[in-house]
Amino acid sequence: MCGITACAAPADENVVDTLLGGLRNLEYRGYDSSGVATPDSETVSVIKREGGIDELADTLDVVGPDGAVGIGHTRWSTHGAPTDANAHPHTDCDNRVAVVHNGIVENYTELRDELRARGHVFTSETDTEVIPHLVSEHLDDGMTVDGAFRAAIERLEGRFAIAMVVAGDDAIYAARNGSPLVVGVDDGRRFIASDVPSFLEHTDDVVYLEDGDVVRVTPDEHVITDLDGRPVERETKVVDWQPEDAERNGFDHYMLKEIHEQPAALERAINGRITAEGGIDLEEFPPGTFSDVTDVQLVACGTSYHAALYVRQQLAERGVPTQVFSGGEYATTPAPVTENTLVIAVTQSGETADTLASLRAADERGARTLAVTNVVGSSAARFCDDALFIRAGPEIGVAATKTFSSQVAVLTLLGERIAQDITGEPREDLAAMLRGLERLPSDVQHVLDQSSVESLATKYRERDGHFFIGRGVAYPVALEGALKFKEITYEHAEGFAAAELKHGPLALVTPDTPVFAVFSGPHDEKTLGNVEEVQSRGAPAVAIASEESTEVAEVVDEFLPIPDTHPVAAGVLANVQLQLVSYHVADLLGRAIDKPRNLAKSVTVE
Ligand code: AGP
Repeated sequence: MCGITACAAPADENVVDTLLGGLRNLEYRGYDSSGVATPDSETVSVIKREGGIDELADTLDVVGPDGAVGIGHTRWSTHGAPTDANAHPHTDCDNRVAVVHNGIVENYTELRDELRARGHVFTSETDTEVIPHLVSEHLDDGMTVDGAFRAAIERLEGRFAIAMVVAGDDAIYAARNGSPLVVGVDDGRRFIASDVPSFLEHTDDVVYLEDGDVVRVTPDEHVITDLDGRPVERETKVVDWQPEDAERNGFDHYMLKEIHEQPAALERAINGRITAEGGIDLEEFPPGTFSDVTDVQLVACGTSYHAALYVRQQLAERGVPTQVFSGGEYATTPAPVTENTLVIAVTQSGETADTLASLRAADERGARTLAVTNVVGSSAARFCDDALFIRAGPEIGVAATKTFSSQVAVLTLLGERIAQDITGEPREDLAAMLRGLERLPSDVQHVLDQSSVESLATKYRERDGHFFIGRGVAYPVALEGALKFKEITYEHAEGFAAAELKHGPLALVTPDTPVFAVFSGPHDEKTLGNVEEVQSRGAPAVAIASEESTEVAEVVDEFLPIPDTHPVAAGVLANVQLQLVSYHVADLLGRAIDKPRNLAKSVTVE
């Protein structure tokens, strides 16, 4: 995934600092190289550097480009190593056209060969570079800039979001086809970006472009058409995020800030969705909405996949036939569906390519689709028949934290709505479960206030391996705890269903493999047995369990308590402890916590 930013300002302004600010707000989308481009009457000035935004800023301070119109890009490389040459923007042979791009041009080798045969010289290994060369050919053929832009796009196959500037032209041209792109509307200025945080400090008036939209932007207007030039109307929406939502607010890392935002995020996730009478009120889905559903398929990736496993546990307990698939697997081997199959995509960004591909596969086969997502206007939200928002606010840290908790809370409510529509009955312990959900914000705050994992993090920071086990809803929590650990500490970590240990993984257990055991209430005695199995092999055992689990506390080597609550809420609380363990180990190891190596916040390539 990469980040695009662009700005068209009044002629007496210099947008370079605005572009730099926009890129800093998008660093979570990619950060192995970055660059900006500003056109003048003859050519386009392009400044781009390998490395983080600071490297680019240092160069800009020296070179000092200016212009009232410009585009910027921060890259997560898919084609070509992260180098100065492969950084965006990319230009044509005469430095007349500059383009930034998010996505993949799937037919770029064919186009590059064709262009080379006509004398074009390429300076990078990227797929993107074919775009400015195509545009320049059409300009040489006498087309208008707008016409040349469209003609070039017609040749591209794949998913992309593109922004372009051309020497001698004071507009920005952009197009969306499968990768997100939004227009920011300010008084006398316009922005284009991959995501709202890029320009949120300037305006909260946003136009979400749709696939197939082409837009021409000048300081006072944005004209949207389809690829054939037919006018398209898109509503200007006011986003309810504040700039500080995307700031660190005094925390050392976005990840820690977002861990501590969980009480507020959970408040929003639950707000208005549990009635005073102890019922579920999902305004989008009144009782009976899912009465014709016969089976549920959940598709998701990474942390969202773990949230999907979490709700599968509850749907299975309620007798609803439910399967969970990783986005990549479902996209390549879709499960059989009927028109009464409900396919739920769980995706924080709403832009994960594997998950979107799964949705297309499900839709093509006639299934009903529903997105549970954090981003209004995201591809998943707009593609699906229905959408349910988790209201977590922007999550900047690459490692998902608050969005997992909010996904679980919202999926739990959605799952119970589905189960009640199908079975006609509420779950027996509905009141206790809803009480557990309603207490979650304060219980999470209690865990955050009481947690003391620093000494444990010091003791277990670098070991042969770190194992996480759990059963029931604690199994996806074990998987999530392992994912968090590995993705920000770079230390080896694996999650297992507790019962699975003895079927192989136990061979890996030594005194140098701490085992984190998650207890959520049901079957804790069996998990305690698994703990004793690892301890008998000399492995230290860390339990995350109810503060009332004295039997567990007496057995294990380390005990991380959580408030005693309903099992569905206990898993969320245990996960908060594991988030803090991973954070503190990574901090001790000096890792790039918000931007871990090789990873991106939303993987928009398959
Ligand atoms: C988790 O910490 C990672 N950020 C990653 O696994 C992420 O959950 C996954 O890429 C899915 O993203 P999505 O929820 O935006 O679809």
